[in-house]
Amino acid sequence: MLSRKRRREAPPSIHPRNRYAEKRLDFSHLASLYPSFNPYVFSSSSGHSTIDWTDFNATRELTRILLLHDHGVHWWIPDEQLCPTVPNRSNYIHWIEDLLSSGLILAKNDGSKGTVRGFDIGTGANCIYPLLGASLLGWSFVGSDVTNVALEWAAKNVESNPHLWELIEIRNANDSNRSERIVMEKTENSDQELEGSSTQQSPILVGVVKGGENFDFCMCNPPFFESIEEAGLNPKTSCGGTPEEMVYPGGERAFITRIIDDSVQLKHSFRWFTSMVGRKVNLKFLISKLREVGVSVVQTTEFVQGRTARWGLAWSFMPPNKSSITSNAPNRSHLGSFTVEGLKRQYGAFQILKSVESFFKDNGVSFKSDSSSFSVDVALSNDQMNTLPVNGLNESSISAADQSSNVLTKPCVFRVLVFEQMPGTVLVRWSPLEKDSQFIGLFLHLFNQLEEFLKKEFNSKTHFVCGK
Ligand SMILES: C[S@@+](CC[C@H](N)C(=O)[O-])C[C@H]1O[C@@H](n2cnc3c(N)ncnc32)[C@H](O)[C@@H]1O
Repeated sequence: MLSRKRRREAPPSIHPRNRYAEKRLDFSHLASLYPSFNPYVFSSSSGHSTIDWTDFNATRELTRILLLHDHGVHWWIPDEQLCPTVPNRSNYIHWIEDLLSSGLILAKNDGSKGTVRGFDIGTGANCIYPLLGASLLGWSFVGSDVTNVALEWAAKNVESNPHLWELIEIRNANDSNRSERIVMEKTENSDQELEGSSTQQSPILVGVVKGGENFDFCMCNPPFFESIEEAGLNPKTSCGGTPEEMVYPGGERAFITRIIDDSVQLKHSFRWFTSMVGRKVNLKFLISKLREVGVSVVQTTEFVQGRTARWGLAWSFMPPNKSSITSNAPNRSHLGSFTVEGLKRQYGAFQILKSVESFFKDNGVSFKSDSSSFSVDVALSNDQMNTLPVNGLNESSISAADQSSNVLTKPCVFRVLVFEQMPGTVLVRWSPLEKDSQFIGLFLHLFNQLEEFLKKEFNSKTHFVCGK
């Protein structure tokens, strides 16, 4: 029944709500609308119009016209500054949107309902995250930075967009209200002085966040590299990037560790702390650091950007919203979950969700899938009960309620949720949506089959976490 091999879908390179998810960019159409872009567009060997991704001027002009055309944002950066690509940066914004609506932590109760407020650590000259978050979703932002050029150009980019003035504040992290500055410890790599950098460690959140301020989230595309040599240049693209933007003593591991340390002090001021992470080995290190400091929730995601992979790491100290998981369930013993571990790099929650859908489809079970919340609602109606395969069902897997009733008065609905715990590990959890669910035993049986199916499908080991 379940042995049929089906082709796996390619890993998602773009968030489903990203406006560039549906169709590839039509460079020749954009060039016809924006003559300044025309000189950069040519036909590739496959016949598609394209640009030279190694040409900084071409990528900057593309970003400028996409922000204008699709977001109504006027934008520019000086030569050599880090040039963001709009589709890639939009993915991070949409992931935060998912976190905020996930219900994983308790909703805020401060009367500010509806107004989302974010803090972008290291907004850069390009100020890309506040510009996207404000224009796409109406979020308000504080964008911080430490270099003069970043602060000056981020402010210019806000000034060029009067409709966003109210929503974006640019803040110099060095204008901290904390008088004492920590003298940077000399590390092996700090012998190499960065041009224009301070020998003191600039504050990141503590001291930059003002007393009484509250944010829904912070985000950060950190300086990833430990040295200028390591930053190097990707010969396949030219996104610019000065040493001040790309390099930090100790690299991203040290920078994000400081965000974690600050988050402990500011645990009540932010609902979610988030950062991009460039290296998987650092992701593992940072997750264990988060466990040490006692966060209540950790979430990760993978951003596939062309040939590079980046991870998103999110954590919170807010109480987890247990009710979203248990309130509709008759009791905890009727919850079940397992993890699918050791997944290959290209597989994650999205592919597991697709396989969960295939499983129920193949078994003739009605379901409704929501890829934004990574959930599948499965409804067992009377008709479907009769068509379900019951081979292997034994008495112990059928509850008393199942045995005493062969008739479902209304469809019995269960929710299956798929969570990416960290790259390579996905948690699959199910629970009934009604208090008096019938046929729990039958669903448990079905769920055990699902577990077996996923194990075979992804050639992975599964680990049962809880449930009957
Ligand atoms: C990789 S760039 C990211 C720029 C932009 N957010 C983007 O995604 O393109 C990192 C930025 O962090 C800034 N930065 C470094 N230390 C900082 C600190 N302590 N507080 C705020 N920004 C900082 C750098 O100046 C740089 O602009």
